[in-house]
Order: sequence, then structure tokens, then C-alpha cells
Amino acid sequence: MEKLVDIREMYKIYNPGENEVRALDGVTLSIDHGEFVAIVGHSGSGKSTLMNMLGCLDVPTEGTYYLDGKDVSELSDDELSEIRNEEIGFVFQGFNLIPSLNALENVELPLIYRGLGREERRTLATQALERVGLGNRLRHRPMEMSGGQQQRVAIARAIAAKPPVILADEPTGNLDSKSGRDVMRILNELWREGRTVILITHDNEIAANARRIIKVMDGRIVSDQPNDPDAGAEHVLGDQDI
Ligand SMILES: Nc1ncnc2c1ncn2[C@@H]1O[C@H](COP(=O)(O)OP(=O)(O)OP(=O)(O)O)[C@@H](O)[C@H]1O
Ligand SMILES: [Mg+2]
Repeated sequence: MEKLVDIREMYKIYNPGENEVRALDGVTLSIDHGEFVAIVGHSGSGKSTLMNMLGCLDVPTEGTYYLDGKDVSELSDDELSEIRNEEIGFVFQGFNLIPSLNALENVELPLIYRGLGREERRTLATQALERVGLGNRLRHRPMEMSGGQQQRVAIARAIAAKPPVILADEPTGNLDSKSGRDVMRILNELWREGRTVILITHDNEIAANARRIIKVMDGRIVSDQPNDPDAGAEHVLGDQDI
């Protein structure tokens, strides 16, 4: 089978010239189908930039990206949005919920773009919200929910259509430790069901759930190691503060 992700020498340079920011500074990375990967690093190290590339939401300044064997730079906008709709469930760092829609409608929105009928949408969205513990908040709008609840709506939205790939940027960033563990249990279940999970976090303990930990610093990958969640990640990450 083709690799899911094959990125070579990727650069993303903002403000070229004197004040340039190398958000990605020569990243080469491959990820297979069915992996559970955590991408870790300090604030500003380039994690979200990398996620935007992985999810075909942004284009690199330089470098190549083959997604499932397809050269992303050669895909049309329609093909890209089809990949995003069908293949990838996104959890964005800032939730990106629509304020005027309630939880159920927010989760249903991407299902509309997938062309699912009303009944099926409602069922999948309700199931996803129940899975993240929000069965009793279906009709609440984002403003009527706590930060952690909004984050869980964003997770429900990402998993409702059961996409093969889950790309999650700090999915536990606004959660208390119990809700954080619940979210990790859900991501673990999705992985065990055969999905690819790519998780972005600055939290060692959260990263320790993954089977592979990739550390990013100043737009570069500085380590990439397998991880055994049962053994804890400390031995991989050392005492460094990530
Ligand atoms: N649109 C932009 N224009 C200029 N610089 C940008 C832009 N977006 C991001 N950057 C810079 O690129 C670098 C990487 O940003 P990125 O958002 O990928 O970091 P991050 O690792 O996700 O950080 P955090 O953990 O705080 O979310 C940062 O130094 C940031 O200031
Ligand atoms: Mg970020």
C-alpha cells in the first residue's frame, strides 16, 4: 500500500527577507496508514503549520507532498476539498465552531458537504456527540457551552463521518485532566478501529498515548521515535520540556 503521507524537504517561509519566519524549515516525513502519531514541540515550533500542510489546507513554499500516492500540488481545488471532506477529520486548535449553530448543527455541517441525507446526518452527529459525552447538549450553541465542551463538539464534528484519518491540533488543550483522558480514550478507540490518528500536542502525557512521537523545533523534526504507551513516554522524551 502507498504511504499515507510522504513529505520531502518541505519549507514554509513567511515574510521572506530580513524578518522571515521559517515555520517549516526542511521537513521530511512519512506516515503509514494506521499509525498513531503525536507531533510535539514548543509554542511556535511549527506544529499547526505542519498540520495545515498535512490536511491540504495550505501550500508549502517549497517541497513535495504525496498524500496516498498523489502529488498534492497537482490536485485541483475540487479534488483537494473532496480529500478533506472524505478522508480527513479535523480538530482545529481554535475549535472553528459556527457561533449561530447549535452543537448538533455544527457536527452535521461537514456531513452536508459529504452529501449525506438528513436522517443519516442527524444519527451520525448525535452518535458522535454522545461519544464525547455531550448527549445532553445537542441544542446548545457554542456560547452556551464551556471551553472544554466546545472542544468536544469540535472532536465530535471530526469523527462523526468516521473518516480514515483524524488530524487533531491540541484536542485536549482546553480540557481538565479527566475530559482530556476521555478524549484520548476516544482517539485510541478510533485508532484501534483502524484509523490513522495524527495528534498535535505540547503535553508529554498526552503524547505518551501515541505509538510514535515526532518532535519539532524551529520548523524542523529533531526526533522521531516509536513509543510504547504502556511504558510511558519519559524514556523517549527525556527530561526536556517540550
Ligand atoms: N500567517 C503567518 N504569518 C507569519 N508568521 C506566521 C504565520 N503563521 C504562523 N507564523 C509563525 O510560524 C511559526 C510557527 O507557527 P505555528 O502556528 O505552526 O506554531 P505551533 O507550533 O502550532 O505553536 P502553538 O503551540 O503555539 O500552537 C511561529 O513562529 C508563527 O509566529
Ligand atoms: Mg499551533
